[in-house]
Amino acid sequence: MTLSLDDRQRAMLAEMGIRLFEPLPAAAPAATGTSAASGAPGRSAAAAASAASSASTQAVHSGAAPTPAISPTPPIPRPSVPIGRSPAPATLALGPPPSGIEALEWDGLEQAVSGCQACGLCQGRRQTVFGVGDRQADWMIVGEAPGEQEDLRGEPFVGNAGQLLDSMLKAVGLDRGHRVYIANVIKCRPPGNRNPEPSEVAQCEPFLRRQIALVQPRIILAMGRFAVQSLLATQEPIGKLRGRLHQYEGVPVVVTYHPAYLLRNLPDKAKAWADLCLALDQFPSTEPGREPSIPT
Ligand code: URA
Repeated sequence: MTLSLDDRQRAMLAEMGIRLFEPLPAAAPAATGTSAASGAPGRSAAAAASAASSASTQAVHSGAAPTPAISPTPPIPRPSVPIGRSPAPATLALGPPPSGIEALEWDGLEQAVSGCQACGLCQGRRQTVFGVGDRQADWMIVGEAPGEQEDLRGEPFVGNAGQLLDSMLKAVGLDRGHRVYIANVIKCRPPGNRNPEPSEVAQCEPFLRRQIALVQPRIILAMGRFAVQSLLATQEPIGKLRGRLHQYEGVPVVVTYHPAYLLRNLPDKAKAWADLCLALDQFPSTEPGREPSIPT
């Protein structure tokens, strides 16, 4: 099979660290390597050579990131469980579920998040992780929950997974300060990076709902199981939901793998690239100012 990719597609693949394997030209000498001798496809020179390292070297920046709001509530006691351990899930709601969220504007919403004590996760957080980026973005990225780095810095996706996300965004001409807004389903770090509990997702959901309503994105990229399940209210696996458009409150949703998963499952980066292309296809290329500009 011959791949027919244009320069833009090759550049996108390269940015995401995806290597292309293409047949050697027919005229290539048979004795140039073991793969040719065995009949296996040779490796393309166009293979995204520098891209694999771009995720690890690219600087993470906050762009127009809002600084986390000061919590109006007194400091929350630190957990007794040492950081790094995974204690039993804290499912207990400590306060009332958030109410009135749907009427808040950005400042009020950010304050409501930073003061939230609606589930036990508030006991273990250093700070809440609200969201970052362009508040009038076309693209909205929805992830799962803050990890250690995010909890330290107060910004989503700043660890290893975030570096890969930045590379993926770069591949479609975006960055976290420009035309994209990034938020998580859960605003507080689950201890030991355990999975969020359903009750925690439910308590936090109004915040994300309001963020989406305020941003009014043209496309949502739901990354990973928790984002997908929360936005689409489904238990279907990602593999079954990928490849077609879904809807959240009238906004088209593309389902894709979480960057942390992609770091462990490199071959699936190609599927994530296809998902990005599906999202990109929602923007008519004739519309001025909405063309992806692939970085060189
Ligand atoms: N994973 C997420 O889903 N969100 C983050 O902010 C960091 C890692």
